[in-house]
Amino acid sequence: MNYERTLIITGGAGFIGSHVVRLFVNKYPRYKIINLDKLTYAGNLANLKDIEDKPNYRFVRMDICDFEGVLKLMQEEQVDGIIHLAAESHVDRSIKDPFTFAQTNVMGTLSLLQAAKACWEGDWEGKRFYHISTDEVYGALEMTHPEGIEPPFTTKASSGEHHLAYGEKFFTEDLKYQPHSPYSAAKASSDHFVRAFHDTFGMPTIVTNCSNNYGPYQFPEKLIPLFINNIRHRKPLPVYGKGENVRDWLYVEDHARAIDVIFHNGRIAETYNIGGFNEWKNIDIIKVLIRTTDRLLGRPEGADMDLITFVTDRAGHDLRYAIDSTKLQKELGWEPSLQFEEGIERTVRWYLDNQEWLDNVTSGDYQKYYEQMYAGR
Ligand code: NAD
Ligand code: TYD
Repeated sequence: MNYERTLIITGGAGFIGSHVVRLFVNKYPRYKIINLDKLTYAGNLANLKDIEDKPNYRFVRMDICDFEGVLKLMQEEQVDGIIHLAAESHVDRSIKDPFTFAQTNVMGTLSLLQAAKACWEGDWEGKRFYHISTDEVYGALEMTHPEGIEPPFTTKASSGEHHLAYGEKFFTEDLKYQPHSPYSAAKASSDHFVRAFHDTFGMPTIVTNCSNNYGPYQFPEKLIPLFINNIRHRKPLPVYGKGENVRDWLYVEDHARAIDVIFHNGRIAETYNIGGFNEWKNIDIIKVLIRTTDRLLGRPEGADMDLITFVTDRAGHDLRYAIDSTKLQKELGWEPSLQFEEGIERTVRWYLDNQEWLDNVTSGDYQKYYEQMYAGR
C-alpha cells in the first residue's frame, strides 16, 4: 500500500494520544499511523484495542529519548509528520521526581526534534512537527471574582448553570510563560525548543496549549477518574486545600478534533490555545461527579457527599486556569461539540461501564497486556 502520508504519533498509548491515534487511524485510511510509545505506567495498549488490527496502524515501543532509534524509524518509514504527545503529565509526580520530567519532556522532545531535523533538513516541504502542550506553561491567573461573573465568551462546552468566569483575564497566545510546577516548567522548556527549531533551522512547527482534558481512558491518578473510582468504592475523596482552584475543562475527543484541524490547516510557526471556556471550581465539579456517579449506580443522589475530605494543599497549587481559544475558533472554525454536563455524564458512564479497564489499571495488570500481546511476534 502506498500511503499518502506517514505520521508518528508519540504517546499514543496514553490518555489523549489514544484518542488522537483512534481518530487518525479511522478517519485517514490512506495515512500510515505509527504509535511510538515507551509504555510507562501511563501507557496502556488496551486503550487502542478497537483499532490495533487496522492495516494502517503500527505500534512501536520506543523511548522518545532514544535519538538513534527514532532516527532509524523515521528514515525506514519515510515519516513526514510528527504529532508529539509523549510526556510525563502528572503535576504531583513532578513534585516528587522532577528529573524524570526534565528527561522525558525536555530531552525527549529535543531528541525528536534532532531526529526530524536530520531526516527533513533541506526538504521541509510538506513536513510538520506538531507539539502538544499545556495551558499550565502560562502560570496561574488571578481569581478576581470568586463568586463568578458572566464570561465574555460563549461556547457549547459551557452550560447555562455554570457558565461563569472567575476573573477578567484569560490565557492568550501572546502571554509570557510563567510556569510554577516542575511539570509545567519542563513543558515550557520543550515548547521553547520547538519554536527554536523553527526560528533557527526553519523546521515547520506548530505548538498548541490546551486546558484540562477529561473523558474515557484517563489514568486514574487525575482528578476526574480518580474520584469516580473512589466514589464507586466509597473511598475518601482527597480535595486539595479548600477545593477553590479553578480549571477549564475540555472533553478529550474535542481536543483530538482540534489537533486534527490544526495539524492539517494550522499556520506554520503559530501557537493556538485550545479550551472550552468552561471554568469550574474543583469543589463544584466534585459535587457533580458525586451526584452523577450516585445516580448511575442507583444510590440516592448525593449520598456520597460525606466522602469529601479536605487534605493538605498541593505545593505551588496554581489557582486558576482559563483559556481564550478565540484565535482557533475564528481562524480554523473549531469549537467544542459537547455541553459540559453531557460530557461528564458520558465520562462517568464510561468508567462505570468499563470497570474491568479501571480495575486492571488500578491493580497494575494492564502492564502485562503488552507482554502477552507481543509474545512470540
Ligand atoms: P498520559 O500521561 O496519559 O500519557 C503519556 C503517554 O506518553 C503514555 O502513553 C506514556 O507511556 C508515554 N510516554 C511517557 N514517556 C515516554 C517516553 N520517554 N517515550 C515514549 N513515550 C513516553 O498523558 P496525557 O494526559 O494523554 O497528555 C498527553 C500530552 O498532552 C502531554 O504532552 C501533556 O503535557 C499534554 N496535555 C495534557 C492535558 C491533560 O489534561 N491531560 C492537557 C493539556 C496538554
Ligand atoms: P489534576 O487532574 O491533577 O490536573 P492538573 O493538576 O493538571 O490541573 O488536578 C485537577 C485539579 O484537582 C487540581 O486543581 C488539583 C486538584 N486535585 C485534588 O484536589 N485532589 C486530587 O486528588 C487530585 C489528583 C487533584
